[in-house]
Amino acid sequence: MRITSLQQYHEAYEESVKTPEKFWAGIANEFDWIKPFTKVLDWNFDDYSVKWFEDGQMNITANALDRHLKTIPDQAAIIYEPNEPGDEAITLTYSELHARVCKFSNVLKNQGVVKGDRVCIYMPMIPELAIAVLACARIGAIHSVVFGGFSAQSIADRINDSECKVVITTDGAIRGNKTIPMKETVDDALVTCPSVEKVIVKTRTKTPVSMIGGRDLWWEQEENEAAADCPAEAMNAEDPLFILYTSGSTGKPKGVVHTCGGYMVYTAYTFANVFQYNPGEVFFCTADIGWITGHSYLVYGPLLNGAKSVLFEGIPTYPDAGRFWDIIKRHSVNIFYTAPTAIRSLMGFGDEHIENKDLSSLRVLGSVGEPLNEEAWHWYNDKVGQGNCPIVDTWWQTETGGLMISPIAGITPLKPAFATLPLPGVQPMLVDENGKEITGNGVNGNLCIKYPWPSIIRTTYGDHERCKSTYFSTYPGLYFTGDGCMRDEDGYYRITGRVDDVMNISGHRIGTAEVENAINMHTGVIESAVVGYPHDVKGQGIYAYVICEHPTINDDLTRKDILATVTRVIGPIAKPDKIQFVTGLPKTRSGKIMRRILRKVAEGETSNLGDTSTLLDPSVVESIISGAL
Ligand code: WT7
Repeated sequence: MRITSLQQYHEAYEESVKTPEKFWAGIANEFDWIKPFTKVLDWNFDDYSVKWFEDGQMNITANALDRHLKTIPDQAAIIYEPNEPGDEAITLTYSELHARVCKFSNVLKNQGVVKGDRVCIYMPMIPELAIAVLACARIGAIHSVVFGGFSAQSIADRINDSECKVVITTDGAIRGNKTIPMKETVDDALVTCPSVEKVIVKTRTKTPVSMIGGRDLWWEQEENEAAADCPAEAMNAEDPLFILYTSGSTGKPKGVVHTCGGYMVYTAYTFANVFQYNPGEVFFCTADIGWITGHSYLVYGPLLNGAKSVLFEGIPTYPDAGRFWDIIKRHSVNIFYTAPTAIRSLMGFGDEHIENKDLSSLRVLGSVGEPLNEEAWHWYNDKVGQGNCPIVDTWWQTETGGLMISPIAGITPLKPAFATLPLPGVQPMLVDENGKEITGNGVNGNLCIKYPWPSIIRTTYGDHERCKSTYFSTYPGLYFTGDGCMRDEDGYYRITGRVDDVMNISGHRIGTAEVENAINMHTGVIESAVVGYPHDVKGQGIYAYVICEHPTINDDLTRKDILATVTRVIGPIAKPDKIQFVTGLPKTRSGKIMRRILRKVAEGETSNLGDTSTLLDPSVVESIISGAL
């Protein structure tokens, strides 16, 4: 399954397009199947349905753990780097991780969790988070990891949407010099979550927490009492593996569903190829497991390949902005995978934090989550890679499950700020507003994919219509990514950013509608409109235009109150960077907000606002411009 030259890449790509079923069957057959598949693919993008390897049976943990017990039982699987740099790092070998996962699988079983049940995981970046994820997968429970920075309200929405039966959390979390409550936040969420029967709490901070009799259990105690053996449940390839909530342009976040077989094959294949992982190497993905990057390239992809994966609890700036580089040295990291926002932020702290660090172990660098601008690309290349490490700028999405458009490290010739070429199995297509294909090179369009790959989203939990309408109706017969894209003269792809009402704040996806709903919950707010604007570090910042019922007495305090409301409703990541109080919003006669104008004002580009003739009240624009922040 390993591509080792540019020619092989082109051959693999061609085969994957000409005979996709043969191509993927060949790769899938490299895994352990409990019952081999005979059907490879069944698909329909018009009335959306996709099935890969549907009559096969397998278990992803049998492939990520048990399979390695024969060959590399004592090799590190997870290397846990705690928040405090002075604390001992903890290595879990494949046999230790296997044992912990089996035990915790039995803990879940003892609490009545069975195949198909949903389990919410709200935890900081400690080994038990990975163990909880894998234990669910082992017994066929569907994990729904909620990022540890989300609010009680957001947790509750996610738990209720998929009716989780169990929640796994910790007493608290430690990030940098802050201690953050976890169990308390879960308790607040659970006031409105009737489906939850049990809460399992791992100790991390020794923060006092309430433990409700009959509902709340200590992880340690349950683990001690659980049996050691737990055979992996036979899963149909198309049984759901997990749900991960992500923001769209409308309404509440949707639960993206990935299934067992295709996700296993695709994450393992892309990990091995894009990073050109060699046995024994140390891979450090800085993403939180609460996001898709952490699911696919901290947990599943690396473990399926028998890799050593670093799991870092802290933040890049604690105790100082050299922390990543210290971790790279401490664990002799060979492959480092992070986000442009982190690169830009560390760049801003000054080169003195990186200049004397030993980064000689590095071989490959990766980037994900948002466009990697040229300035950041060069700093990453020169200072971190020291001119010796290929940078793989990987474009993909929660919905795609794995990397889609990306260089293959050391093989694909690079161009700064380009995701370069589609991986085998990925058939991109650029379309214009009317859905007409834009052919040739040196063109711009909306990015669609015209053929299924194994880890494509299967549905949005509990609402298949929403999946169809979000991804398969804008351009019938195509999967629409929501991204704008340029294909240059060489056929190289460069992602230019979202073309819908989804913002990308520090690599986190947030819908404008979600933030507006949160702001509108603040007392006295009549209406609001939110847009993204270019931000030096975050990629995009959030700019909010807010109409209040009464002129606010103290704008500054009201702004802070609104931020507190947004934090309460969604979480700190959704806090607007700028709040401008306005008396009206630019609307068309039919009442639609002209966001284009608001975006221009937020960008500070007010000289050319385009056609404003359809505005109901053009004077609103003048007043917004004069008050712009
Ligand atoms: C959106 C998906 C899956 C990775 C983490 C984010 C943007 C992602 C790149 C890249 C330019 C990128 C796109 C995409 N994006 N990677 N290499 N270059 N933009 O996952 O939260 O599902 O967000 O992130 O806009 O649609 P996500």
